[in-house]
Amino acid sequence: MCGIVGYLGRERAAPVLLGGLQKLEYRGYDSAGIALMHDGALTLIRRRGRVSELQFAEGFLGNAGIGHTRWATHGAPCERNAHPQRFGKVCLVHNGIIENAARLKEQCLARGETFSSETDSEVVAHLIDGEYAKDGDLLKAVRRAARRLTGSYALAVLAEGTEEIVCARMRSPLVVAVGQEGVFAASDMTAVAAAGRTAYVLEDGDFARMTCGKAELFDASLVPVARAPVPLAAERSSDGKGAYPHFMRKEIAEVPQAVRATLKGARIGGLLAQNKVLCQTKYLHIVACGTAYHSGLCMKAACERIARIPVQVFLASEYRYAEPIVPADTLTVAVSQSGETADTLAAAELAKEKGSFVLGVVNAPHSSLARLADAVLQTRAGTEIAVAATKSFNAQLAALYALAARLAKLRGKGTYPLGAFPALCKETLSACENVAAWVPRFAAARCVFFLGRGADRYAALEGSLKLKEVSYLPGEGYAAGELKHGTLALVDERTPVVAVICDEALADKTMNAVHEVYARGAPVFLVTPFRELCRAREVTASVVIPHCMPVFAPMLSVIPLQLLAYHTALAVGADPDKPRNLAKSVTVE
Ligand code: G6P
Repeated sequence: MCGIVGYLGRERAAPVLLGGLQKLEYRGYDSAGIALMHDGALTLIRRRGRVSELQFAEGFLGNAGIGHTRWATHGAPCERNAHPQRFGKVCLVHNGIIENAARLKEQCLARGETFSSETDSEVVAHLIDGEYAKDGDLLKAVRRAARRLTGSYALAVLAEGTEEIVCARMRSPLVVAVGQEGVFAASDMTAVAAAGRTAYVLEDGDFARMTCGKAELFDASLVPVARAPVPLAAERSSDGKGAYPHFMRKEIAEVPQAVRATLKGARIGGLLAQNKVLCQTKYLHIVACGTAYHSGLCMKAACERIARIPVQVFLASEYRYAEPIVPADTLTVAVSQSGETADTLAAAELAKEKGSFVLGVVNAPHSSLARLADAVLQTRAGTEIAVAATKSFNAQLAALYALAARLAKLRGKGTYPLGAFPALCKETLSACENVAAWVPRFAAARCVFFLGRGADRYAALEGSLKLKEVSYLPGEGYAAGELKHGTLALVDERTPVVAVICDEALADKTMNAVHEVYARGAPVFLVTPFRELCRAREVTASVVIPHCMPVFAPMLSVIPLQLLAYHTALAVGADPDKPRNLAKSVTVE
């Protein structure tokens, strides 16, 4: 989603800002812009489309500036709605949503001010400009304006007449970093990570003033505050695609190491430290969005089976409005790759308010969720650049399965070693070479169904989401036994069906659904460890994956589905790393 960078220092700002914006491109955006301060005057450069459209400005002068990648919410993705937004002497970049923007705008219009964009962000520039005109103190002006805002914001603000950048944060992430070359601001550590720099994560209500060589932090009353420094190392895994043509393909290849590192982290301390809470846990609630929600469903299958603890999985966006019943001794697990998903954060906050212990299963260690949660079980997938989550899903499964195994052990329900999974994931990857050959049937499809029962159904849901995200093919993940209650009406020869069958006890039942779709002309693709099933005449093609305990099988069965989505995206001419309309980190509700 939207990304912010800011820089003030000895170097020319334009190349620093453009480099930072490039590192934020993975989050998803549809326009970009920078503003440069040179000799007290502001220059704005904004374009619809990619950051590369701004490259011509690399040589522009100015040692201070702000930049932005915008994912349109208020107003179409076009140049006038791109950030920075300017009014009067003030120019700013904004992430988040100003909920009372319409009312504030009316007040500005009543004063005779005119607007040049449809954004809620421009309203903020109007407010700050009005305040800045009073005493020429930008920090105080931003604070006075911020008090009138409701909603969420991360702001970086420049004003003519001062050599500083002022930042503010409320429910939208923002860090400032200090290095030899100058001071930086960003909405995402990735944009400022470099060896030797130190970052400070702003808390909600904080302000920062960046001047030459220093960044000062203030609380909501403008009292100076110290926030714990986070040393930054150069980002390694985002360095490039290596030998792979796309990040998505590279990240699928990284599944085994993501699983290995996550399981190791869970063993060393991650879960052992939580024994007291885990012993008391009677119910598990999981809150998450998108792919992370599917990992929560897979956890439900595993945890209920092996630990016999009831698990409810909530879409985080629904949780708040469902008036959730949170009994005593409920452990709430908030699962998020980015740790910045607005709905997941809001759900975790509400669970805490209701007295639940919140465990964050999160990939970004300094994210808002990591700081909000009572404890963190880190997924160690490394930076994930492709918008569609792949290795982070497997890493979430590793963390959640480790949690399920721990809960089972503490309840005397047996031990479930998971150490073989990194090698099994690797074996699965090698077994998937023929998946690319399935693609012509998918690329020409009208609609695709993914079927399964039990845990296999959850893998099917994730496989379907991946295909939709990157290849734009309509489809559904479906309970195999439910198909004939309506949805079978959609099936014909242009409706490929992927069946996931990893549980021997359910194999015959799911094969019934295979017979049903085959009889309607659908080509059937099978993902299974059972070689004999692949010989059935109904099966067009198959991938034989390694055997494992059925409740843990999504860890393996999802891999061919991730690859299927990737190859189909290529076949239909879509960029698998940057699916249209989607953002990597959805920081608004
Ligand atoms: C976005 C991404 C998805 C992701 C979801 C939740 O929609 O495009 O890939 O699964 O957000 O993100 P999180 O960072 O909370 O796991």
